[in-house]
Amino acid sequence: MVILGFMFNYMLRVNLAMAITDMIQINETSVARNSTDSVKVEGVKRYHWDTYAKNDILGYFFWGYILTEIPGGRLAEIIGARRVFGGGMLAASLLTILTPVICDLPIQAILFSRVLMGFFLGATWPAIPPMAAKWIPPLERSKFIANMMASSLGAALTMTVSGLLTESF
Ligand SMILES: *[C@@H]1O[C@H](CO)[C@@H](O)[C@H](O)[C@H]1NC(C)=O
Ligand SMILES: *[C@@H]1O[C@H](CO)[C@@H](O)[C@H](O)[C@H]1NC(C)=O
Repeated sequence: MVILGFMFNYMLRVNLAMAITDMIQINETSVARNSTDSVKVEGVKRYHWDTYAKNDILGYFFWGYILTEIPGGRLAEIIGARRVFGGGMLAASLLTILTPVICDLPIQAILFSRVLMGFFLGATWPAIPPMAAKWIPPLERSKFIANMMASSLGAALTMTVSGLLTESF
């Protein structure tokens, strides 16, 4: 569960970085940048975000992320790691599903959703060590914690699969 959880964790985190390459209309100069309207290019919706907006959309994640790095661990000690990890993943997943709808809103709404996404996923990392301290025997702990590194596997998979999915769909 920890391996799968952290794979999905990184998938949620990086999928927009891949998808955004096909969400931006870059060759139109006459349109107001950052406007909420979009164009269809070969059936795919493209937005008029400028480079600053694009960077902000990808970067605002981390403003939320740093907020929960420490509180997430304390919360896991109080209400339990499963609730913090599961709740954070659920909320981030729902936000991801809603992202196509949110992208039609003004840019501030998109940025806010990215901060929220970071907020929820930030809590998931520190939630696991309290669980290891409570449930995992000392000699097994490093092996258990190493499973969190499955996140890299999630990132590697998503980087590849998102590209193919974007190309095909
Ligand atoms: C912009 O690029 C799209 C393909 O990505 C093309 O269909 C469209 O004609 C281009 N528009 C202009 C104004 O060059
Ligand atoms: C687009 O939005 C970004 C904020 O994400 C801002 O930095 C940039 O100046 C905006 N561009 C225009 C032309 O309004």
